[in-house]
Amino acid sequence: MRALREMLSEYAVIVVTGGSSGIGKACIEHVWKLNPEVIICNLSRREPAIFTGQLKARQVTVDLADSGALAAAADDVLDHLRGAAPKGKVMLINNSGFGGYGRVHELGRDHQLEMIDVNVRAVVDLTARLLPVLRERGGAVVNIASTAAFQPTAHMATYGATKAFVLHWSLGLREELRGDGVHVLAVCPGPTATEFFKRAGLRQGAVTARWGQTAEEVAFETLRALAREHAQVVCGWGNWLLAAFASRLPKPMAARVGAALLVKYRASRVEAPMSGAGR
Ligand SMILES: NC(=O)c1ccc[n+]([C@@H]2O[C@H](COP(=O)([O-])OP(=O)(O)OC[C@H]3O[C@@H](n4cnc5c(N)ncnc54)[C@H](OP(=O)(O)O)[C@@H]3O)[C@@H](O)[C@H]2O)c1
Repeated sequence: MRALREMLSEYAVIVVTGGSSGIGKACIEHVWKLNPEVIICNLSRREPAIFTGQLKARQVTVDLADSGALAAAADDVLDHLRGAAPKGKVMLINNSGFGGYGRVHELGRDHQLEMIDVNVRAVVDLTARLLPVLRERGGAVVNIASTAAFQPTAHMATYGATKAFVLHWSLGLREELRGDGVHVLAVCPGPTATEFFKRAGLRQGAVTARWGQTAEEVAFETLRALAREHAQVVCGWGNWLLAAFASRLPKPMAARVGAALLVKYRASRVEAPMSGAGR
């Protein structure tokens, strides 16, 4: 805990996307527990409940699938940085994201394109807009990928591919920024009990903290990996083992095994057909 406190004491501002629920919300709570002085800017469509009455909070309400709105939101964040905290390190946590269970032709085109916009396009766009400030002041970029990044994921093919992008892009960016004072971390959670599964078309409670992780556990492992300056963290030892196994299999074989597992999983937990299906 002391190492986390020391690490966070260097930061003046943390910019997080998707702090209104799940892992993003847990990251905000954890950071403020360890450093109540840090300013947190959240970008999402809903305001985090924890922001109510908080002087160190800045809500920027934005749909990250909308590139024009993202540009305006980034300007808002940069203005706030200049005014409220002109010195000190800045951390960007790219956490917003969503998935969808179903075959590509069932899920609908618009739904999957929006997924690419939020999970991939917004991550690159927001990072590129904030990087000049991060390089000037020092800081970190934390990108929430997934264990879905380690193998093709039939029945959530688009989601898995967006997360493979985030993982590889983060590791490449980390090397580019070596020596620039900006640390980059890719976080790969496995199943975590959040709103994610409901939005992906599964029943609420499809993942419980009993066999998955809690958002708080993921937030803690994220901050610990950042304090240790790791390049990548797979959250939970069980997920680490599975990711290590999957990434050593030939890709077509990993795709076949993953497809069989996801069909079985989905059959027991899937909701009524998605409302966006067919679009
Ligand atoms: N839960 C898991 O099992 C799991 C596993 C691996 C990786 N992940 C990743 O972890 C990240 C956080 O997900 P979570 O599990 O915490 O799920 P969650 O509880 O559903 O949270 C998702 C967050 O993303 C934000 N978001 C979604 N669409 C957005 C949009 N168009 N514009 C702005 N913000 C948007 C949501 O905010 P608003 O609705 O307020 O806009 C929400 O705060 C995601 O990138 C997800 O892919 C989750």
